[in-house]
Amino acid sequence: MESNYSSSSIPPANIMEKLPKSKTLELRQKHIGGAMKMFFSHDPVKIVRASGQYMYDEQGNQYLDCINNVCHVGHCHPDVVEAAHRQMQVLNTNSRFLHDDMVLLAEKITSTMPESLSVVFMTNSGSEANDLAMRLARHHTKGTDVITLDNAYHGTVVTTMDISPYKLDRNTDGVHPIPDHVHVASCPDVYGGIYRDCDYPGEDMGEKYAADVDEIINKIHSNGRKLSCYISESMQSCAGQVIFPKGYLKNVYRSVRKAGGVCIADEVQVGFGRVGTHYWAFQPEGVVPDIVTMGKPMGNGHPVSAVVTTREISDSFQKSGMTYFNTYGGNPVSCAIALAVLNVIEKEGLLEHAIIIGQYLKDKLRELQKELPIIGDIRGRGMFVGIALVKDLKTREPATKEANETICRMKKEFILLSTDGPHENVLKFKPPLCFNKDNVDVLVNKLAVALRDISTSSEEKAKNTQEINELSHDKNNSAVVDFGRQCSGFSSSLTSEVVGEPSAKVMKVH
Ligand SMILES: Cc1ncc(COP(=O)(O)O)c(C=O)c1O
Repeated sequence: MESNYSSSSIPPANIMEKLPKSKTLELRQKHIGGAMKMFFSHDPVKIVRASGQYMYDEQGNQYLDCINNVCHVGHCHPDVVEAAHRQMQVLNTNSRFLHDDMVLLAEKITSTMPESLSVVFMTNSGSEANDLAMRLARHHTKGTDVITLDNAYHGTVVTTMDISPYKLDRNTDGVHPIPDHVHVASCPDVYGGIYRDCDYPGEDMGEKYAADVDEIINKIHSNGRKLSCYISESMQSCAGQVIFPKGYLKNVYRSVRKAGGVCIADEVQVGFGRVGTHYWAFQPEGVVPDIVTMGKPMGNGHPVSAVVTTREISDSFQKSGMTYFNTYGGNPVSCAIALAVLNVIEKEGLLEHAIIIGQYLKDKLRELQKELPIIGDIRGRGMFVGIALVKDLKTREPATKEANETICRMKKEFILLSTDGPHENVLKFKPPLCFNKDNVDVLVNKLAVALRDISTSSEEKAKNTQEINELSHDKNNSAVVDFGRQCSGFSSSLTSEVVGEPSAKVMKVH
């Protein structure tokens, strides 16, 4: 299957690949920071071109891209490429000159938003946008404290890392503890969070999770501090594609405003029509934020982002004597590209498409769920879908290993999928919006094969583990270690689990 617009133009080989893969890997290991993560680091994929919803490796293998929420309207969409090329030939400079595309872009973005959100600041990345959003909030409220959600990720600069529990591992990162002004509220995940719908049948889960934020606000006040802002995505991506319970954001926004704070919606991953019913993911929640940040899909792969806010908040920032200058933010090339993205979304009816394809995928997955109890939860809006894999439908114990195995198997089938969530057991689906029904069929068929196989081997493992446990209850430690040796006749995965880590297993069984 080819994308709609790639077949005529396969680029020359010397543009796609300048080095043999082994040399690329060698130079990467030598010169690139080890902390810069790579997908499938044990067996990395070298991608040399992409088009629409497909990516191609150096051998010409085609991968179906189910996770790239940056190349939003399709990899290398010709309208976007053309806009970049055209503008690059004419002018690219900073935003301190008058230029048409910046104001046209601001006009276009604000036309998709509630009326109060009428002022735009141009930035280059989601991190910069969130950093600026927090500065705006501070100047407007004169408060210092920030409420963020557990498992959130809001960016890679120091201010945003401070509010990103997803990355900031409080247990191991001794050099960078959560600062005093940051407060972490529970992630409102009714399937796997601290309050699960199954444990509180009939309760208003939106209210229950929002009460957590109320408690934090009380704590801030009783410590003599002042709230600046609450920041969250409108659907939580890194937390495992979490859809908030009904009324959660409404309750939280009300409390935050009552406490003198402002509400920031991070739409860096979830904006630009991915939910399908609306342009922005805060809209189905029935709330209007005070500040909205956006990035990733905005440039379809080119770095451009923005902060949209109210005239009042923008004025507060200006009145404090602040000027905001960002060398690349709002440059003519970035603005031309973002305008082209917005035009393609409209021209190709991608919001409607996101609804149809998202629903088609969820329907097919729900069919599969009837057969495969490893699929615990299927949730999402439009082309933002999460599939939580569990070991047991009742306990909802995360099937982390199985999820990891699934994405590895899918990679072998040339399908790029990934996991998310605190237990890495949620398969995430957020592809370019040109993803089509045929793609869904291929994805679900291959997923079905992989999950059937993984479920069967998990059941086998569970049975064998039970046997191990039963045996070990009757014997002492050395018998268990001996048993590890006996296991060598078992299936290889079980062998590596039990024999490979005998001491860990011994500790577990006893
Ligand atoms: C929700 C969210 N906010 C902000 C960011 C930071 O964006 P960037 O990587 O462009 O700085 C990310 C990046 O993954 C994100 O997922």
